[in-house]
Amino acid sequence: MNQQMLLEYSADLGIQLTSLKLIQENKYCLIYEAEFLDNKCIIKKYRGEDPALIKIEAQALGFYHQLSQENEDLIDSGAPSLVEEKNLLCIGFVEGEAFSDFLYRARKDEELRSKANNYMQILGRLIRTIYEKTQQPEQETAPLIYEYFAYTSKRLEEISVLGTIFFKGYRDTAKRIADKFRNAKITPSFVHGDFVFKNIHVRDGKVGLIDFANAIYLSHPLNDIYNMVMALGNMFLPESFKSELINSFKKGMGPVQFPEIAHEFYYEYQRQRWLMLKLSYFEPKEMIQGFIGLATFAKPSGNKVKFL
Ligand SMILES: Nc1ncnc2c1ncn2[C@@H]1O[C@H](COP(=O)(O)OP(=O)(O)O)[C@@H](O)[C@H]1O
Ligand SMILES: [Mg+2]
Repeated sequence: MNQQMLLEYSADLGIQLTSLKLIQENKYCLIYEAEFLDNKCIIKKYRGEDPALIKIEAQALGFYHQLSQENEDLIDSGAPSLVEEKNLLCIGFVEGEAFSDFLYRARKDEELRSKANNYMQILGRLIRTIYEKTQQPEQETAPLIYEYFAYTSKRLEEISVLGTIFFKGYRDTAKRIADKFRNAKITPSFVHGDFVFKNIHVRDGKVGLIDFANAIYLSHPLNDIYNMVMALGNMFLPESFKSELINSFKKGMGPVQFPEIAHEFYYEYQRQRWLMLKLSYFEPKEMIQGFIGLATFAKPSGNKVKFL
């Protein structure tokens, strides 16, 4: 443990930390697990290149805290504490197991499978609640969404050799779908932005969301939903279990319908994003997953609606 840092962060955050352990690093921040009194927390030290990022995460965490105070099914991560000038964010610790680990444990266990289905129902209800609470009919979808979609389609087309074989014309297709989506003036709402099973903790019948670093206030529930669909597609679980999970999620969401173009847009957005992450870095293991995906759950859809 770095004593110097422990003292520094304690002073910056105004809490007496008793331990500090680096657990992960990414492009944007260092992530520590820390202890104080009888509590645990997560501390994110942002690199500070883009000062907007830490504020987005803090604001989204504040919103999640508010949601979980009104919702018994959620594990609260408390009011985040942000020290902007130090690029520090302190987040309440969400106990429990990553839902991804739980799902693998549940694959051959009826009782756990049924619990997993309950968790999926909670998540469906949560996405519905977020959608209802955060719609902004006067606003347009965040420009970042369109920029990222253009970027992924370009990256896919430009992958050496594979690009020409599998992704020819993707830039044009992405542009066509994006224009159609924009013209449809779909009401935007809040999304978590990295809605995958690793970022969902589960325990005692409750779920806790973590990692709001990619939250967007002007997107659409189908963004999170198709992100989750891709993540589930890529897991080694029995197909019957996967469809049960999706059905439970739908049950939780209840009878809500989204315009066809919103499905088409976000399905393609998440499909291309997933393929880009798997295929453009030339990591053998990832590439195998990418090819399996491309032939199965991440295949081009024409414009068939995939979900709900
Ligand atoms: N609030 C939290 N409660 C418990 N563990 C957390 C929390 N936030 C992050 N973690 C742990 O740190 C890991 C990385 O944090 P995360 O916010 O997901 O960053 P990344 O963007 O690198 O995935 C998580 O997978 C989880 O194990
Ligand atoms: Mg994460």
